[in-house]
Amino acid sequence: MKTISKLLFVTMLYVSLTTTVVAHDTDKQIYKKVDDLMKKMTLQEKIGQLQQLTGRNSEITGPSGEKINTEESIRRGLCGSLLGVKKAEDVARYQNIALNESRLGIPLLFGYDIIHGCRIIFPENLGISSSWDITAIEKTAQIAAREAASMGIAWTFSPMCDISTDPRWGRVSEGSGEDPYLGAKIAEAMVHGYQGKDLSDPNTILACVKHFAAYGAPQAGRDYHTVDMSRRMFRDRYLPPYRAAINAGAATVMTSFNDFEGVPATGNKWLMRDLLRDELGFTGFIVTDWGSTDEMCAHGVAANGKEAAKLAFDAYVNMNMVDADYIKYGEELVHEKQVSEKTIDLLCREVLAMKFRLGLFDNPHRYGGDRYKSETYRPENLEVAREAARKSMVLLENNGILPLKGSEHIALIGPYAANRKEMSGAWRGLVEHHRTTTFLEGLQTRFGKDNITYVEGCKPFKAIEGGIAEAVAAAKKSDVVLLTMGLPNSCSGEAASLTSIEVPQVQRDLLTALDSIGKPIVVLLVTGRPMDVGFEVKHADALLVTWHAGTMAGPALADVVSGDFNPAGRLTMTFPLELGQVPIHYNMKRTGRPMLSPDSKAKYFSRYIFTPNEPRYPFGYGLSYTTFDYSDLKVLTPEVAMGESVHVSVKVRNSGKRDGAEVVQLYLRDDIASTTRPVRELKGFERVELRAGEERTVEFEITPEDMSFWTINEEFAQEPGTFHLWAGHDSNATLEGVFTVKR
Ligand code: NOJ
Repeated sequence: MKTISKLLFVTMLYVSLTTTVVAHDTDKQIYKKVDDLMKKMTLQEKIGQLQQLTGRNSEITGPSGEKINTEESIRRGLCGSLLGVKKAEDVARYQNIALNESRLGIPLLFGYDIIHGCRIIFPENLGISSSWDITAIEKTAQIAAREAASMGIAWTFSPMCDISTDPRWGRVSEGSGEDPYLGAKIAEAMVHGYQGKDLSDPNTILACVKHFAAYGAPQAGRDYHTVDMSRRMFRDRYLPPYRAAINAGAATVMTSFNDFEGVPATGNKWLMRDLLRDELGFTGFIVTDWGSTDEMCAHGVAANGKEAAKLAFDAYVNMNMVDADYIKYGEELVHEKQVSEKTIDLLCREVLAMKFRLGLFDNPHRYGGDRYKSETYRPENLEVAREAARKSMVLLENNGILPLKGSEHIALIGPYAANRKEMSGAWRGLVEHHRTTTFLEGLQTRFGKDNITYVEGCKPFKAIEGGIAEAVAAAKKSDVVLLTMGLPNSCSGEAASLTSIEVPQVQRDLLTALDSIGKPIVVLLVTGRPMDVGFEVKHADALLVTWHAGTMAGPALADVVSGDFNPAGRLTMTFPLELGQVPIHYNMKRTGRPMLSPDSKAKYFSRYIFTPNEPRYPFGYGLSYTTFDYSDLKVLTPEVAMGESVHVSVKVRNSGKRDGAEVVQLYLRDDIASTTRPVRELKGFERVELRAGEERTVEFEITPEDMSFWTINEEFAQEPGTFHLWAGHDSNATLEGVFTVKR
């Protein structure tokens, strides 16, 4: 087509497509527009909409693979989406190529890993989950979406809904911990935060539920490794967060790298069609993970890219991320009748429908432009980040040294104390590190520059010459030592599996030296995963898990150690006593030979010879500067019929001298069921703020759904019988009740 007539054609197409697009087109209207557009598309153009590529300066988050000319692909209508484009100007440039230089001018969809913040970085997800504050979590997702949208991004690859019980796996930092119930609440909140009420609102973006499915259970905690579990276990423990995100209306789903029952997820028809689409009713579109179509060759289920593409098409996977198997072999597969054109139409339809829903046909530049100048780093949003960071921090040990009195001279030591980059964790969104406030700066602002002496002491894995001596000298002149220890960003997230979850030796040497001078030591643990902190506990007076706390790390830490904010974070992943206990989680099955009591030495029971079964810190655990007492657990409806809810109340009192927040937790056990059930499962929680001395009655409703599970009859259902429940501070709660569900 000559340029002028092409421009005319594109303009006319826009006029015809956009004049009638209003913010609230019904799905019927949208699909009518999609179908009209698809009538004009060639087979190759339809397949092109199913291809996602990277841009020239994109964030590269996987093996680079084959070189593809992105701009040329866009011009030829062989690309429907780009990922990882970092700048709004580049987004606009690529969009203009699609609009003005491709035959049909169909706008591109830009995706990015906005995992825990875009410009403003919130704590890593495992950290935020420790706040147990669903409203705050939704707010962080909403801010991330707003900032991302202003930078040209209309789609985030989040929330990660993968349950994991293995701290060797680096990606536990991206998830919400080990519990399906809490994970489901968080997944739902994040979808609402990203997508808001209306996708056509230019401040909302598409969410992506990932990694479907069971990616959080790789053998031996090694990333990308095989996953093998029963469907029953999958449905009971791993499915709930994905399902909750889908029920919350998540627009897209990402396939996982792993195989499931011997079939890689990207070509797994049971997962993608039977379960996701037919059973869970997912109506959006599915994207592969990076290169995971072609990786089916490495998995050994496809001999070449063409066979791999066929497997993914057959599983109704709409969009192919990064490898080019769809655009390379799609047409051929259709011509050879290995894949029907109907399948391609089906897949393309959903991608285009999403672009219409986002309003991209209405205004292809509605995301980005210079909106970011006013939308990013808003002061009120920085305050949300500070609040999220301090709510995430978990106090694990404290002999009374915290909160600080304020009059002490502080020696702030360690590799993370003044390190901006190390506050961002894995996945940094579009971070600008210079905007991060370090621990040092936060403490200086709160306590005064003159009251802090800072020494780095060592690097995360390397000694600094004279570092220990300098640190010891600073400590000697101070009243208290705040020592940052732990793991760097590079040990969090993708491709960051570890076989040791201890703090590196060089940092421990620093701790030992500091301990020898007898000053009180507060360890600030920077980590994206549970760690074995036995050594640190022996040498420290207090231990605070700060996670990778994000842009507002400094002020948040100052709030907590000064006592301006009373820590209320609670672990969402068990901290083991030793790595050998892994995988360890509170909601284990009972087994036929459960331990008689925690300290029993009886042989032939399910235990270790030399190590207790109990972790160092259980799920739900975390200290406060005040104390909470529980009493009066009442099962208000001790006998109910199937289909009825059970109502429970419990009193919680702030029995200390400071105001504080407590996460009241409710656990349930189905005593006798048709399949083995966990020792207990979280089925309710409420984060309550209590003034010193204040008492509150907290009520819970346990719904029939909460009591249901995947029964022996292969259905998600309730069974009659007795149930035990516990309410209290963590997963070891002892206040007990019982109720019966009658047939
Ligand atoms: C691979 C990761 O597994 C996934 O989580 C991420 O969204 C994609 N790469 C895109 O960066």
